[in-house]
Formats: sequence, structure tokens, C-alpha cells
Amino acid sequence: MIEIELMNIAAGMARRAGDLAFVGRATLDRAIDVSTKSSATDMVTRWDSASERLIVADLETRRPDDGIIGEEGAAKESQSGISWLIDPIDGTTNFLYGLAGWAVSIAAVDDTGTPEGTLAGVVYLPATRELFVAARGHGAWLGGRRLRCSSNDEMATALVGTGFSYSSDRRARQGDRVARLLPRVRDIRRTGAAAPDLCYVADGRLDAYFEEGLQAWDLAAGLLIATEAGARASDFDGGSPLPSNVLVSAPDLHTHLLELIGPSPTDRAVS
Ligand code: IPD
Ligand code: CA
Ligand code: CA
Repeated sequence: MIEIELMNIAAGMARRAGDLAFVGRATLDRAIDVSTKSSATDMVTRWDSASERLIVADLETRRPDDGIIGEEGAAKESQSGISWLIDPIDGTTNFLYGLAGWAVSIAAVDDTGTPEGTLAGVVYLPATRELFVAARGHGAWLGGRRLRCSSNDEMATALVGTGFSYSSDRRARQGDRVARLLPRVRDIRRTGAAAPDLCYVADGRLDAYFEEGLQAWDLAAGLLIATEAGARASDFDGGSPLPSNVLVSAPDLHTHLLELIGPSPTDRAVS
């Protein structure tokens, strides 16, 4: 089955790239190895680039006809109808500060451009050595354990993850959403990496996660892992989930959360 084959390829690449970055971090020199991208808060390190290079080189050998879209610039048209979305380090700020919440996130997608078109997804957290995997129609797994999301149906006891953009304008609006939610739920968590957040929903460590302003490489793998674990996903209006705005939750919490989080942001052009 192609989904399982792609998942296994992604798992091997994510482990190798993540372990490379994990070892490399020990030699990171903040003065030399770090630069900024869209804003002063949006950083990239030498190891983001090295991780992406390793994954791209592997794909050139193993899947030469597939397309590639990598956060750090890798880009290649697909000849096979399958493309790879790569976030070589999701949670670069955590990586830089020596916090555990960062991951390599890799998804294989078909050419429909829809969430249903994600065939396989893998998220590997080197600091905890956790490898979350999913293949479409075959479930989500952590090691030998099949993942099931939370069955919580009560807002008052919901632990909800979220994240914040690198754009300060958008952050102000995200703060408003959090302010609406905070008095109604058990608590809020901000891990600092979208892909692990989505895996935590898959494993019931969070009851829900929402964010706006993500990119396709932040979302694709973790979204498949969460939905294969039974989580419900949508945009903030209840439509198909989008990188620009996504809510993923225990099924019975979804409608209640949408009432507090929606409607969709109108500033989708802001990144
Ligand atoms: C970021 C992280 C963060 C999320 C941001 C992402 P990066 O990815 O996933 O948790 O809040 O929206 O851009 O830049 O560390 O790969
Ligand atoms: Ca990311
Ligand atoms: Ca990244």
C-alpha cells in the first residue's frame, strides 16, 4: 500500500534529520548560525537548513519523481502526482533556546491540495525520541501504540493548545481569541511548535488545538495524525481545515470551541 510505504520513508528521513539537528545543536553558535526571516522573531538556524538538505537528498534517491516543498526553500515540481511538504525544524525558537518542543515534520500529499489528499505524515521529536506516524486510512501510531484522541465533551475541563504568529498585528488578534477562551476552559498551552501540538491532540495530551496563519508544512503531517486518531478538524467557520485557520479537537468539543473561536480571521494575507 502506497500510504504505508510513504509513511515508512518519511519516518526514516525524519529520524535521520532530527538526530542530525539534535547532535548539531550542541555546537550552535547564536552569533554565527542564526538569522531572521519574516520578522525579528522568525528565526532560522544552520540546522534547519541541514535538516532540509538531508531530507531532500534522501528523496532524490528514493522518490526522484515526487515534488518537494520545503520551508527553507526546497522546491521541485511533481512528475508522479505525489509531493512532500517538509518542515525541517518545527519549533525553531524552542530548538534555539534548548527547549524540548521541536520536531521534524514531513507529509506526502497528492495533487488535490486538500487535507483529504494527505497520504502519510510523520512528526519526530528528537528531544523525547517520540515518532508519531500516520497513513491515510490506517490510523495514527506512536511506537507500537495506536493513538486515540480525547473523548472529553466538557469545555470547563478542556486543555487547549494554541500558537502565535511571527506578525505582531496578527498576535494582537490572537491574544483576543485567547482572552475569550481562557475563562471557559481548564487552561491553555503554548508548546511553541504546531506539529507536536497536533500530535498531542492525537494522543489526548491536549483536548484541542487551534491556530491561525500556519503554512502547509506546519499542518499537513500533524493534521493527518490527529484526524487518524479520531479528532475532528475544521477551519474557524466549520469548513475544511486550512493552514490560515484550523481547529482540531475531541469530537464533542468542536462545536463549543467554534462558538468561542470563530469566525475566520479576515486578514488572511498577513503571514
Ligand atoms: C512555528 C511553530 C509555532 C507556530 C508558528 C509556526 P517554525 O513554526 O510551529 O508553534 O505558532 O505559527 O510558524 O517557524 O518554528 O517552523
Ligand atoms: Ca513550522
Ligand atoms: Ca520550521
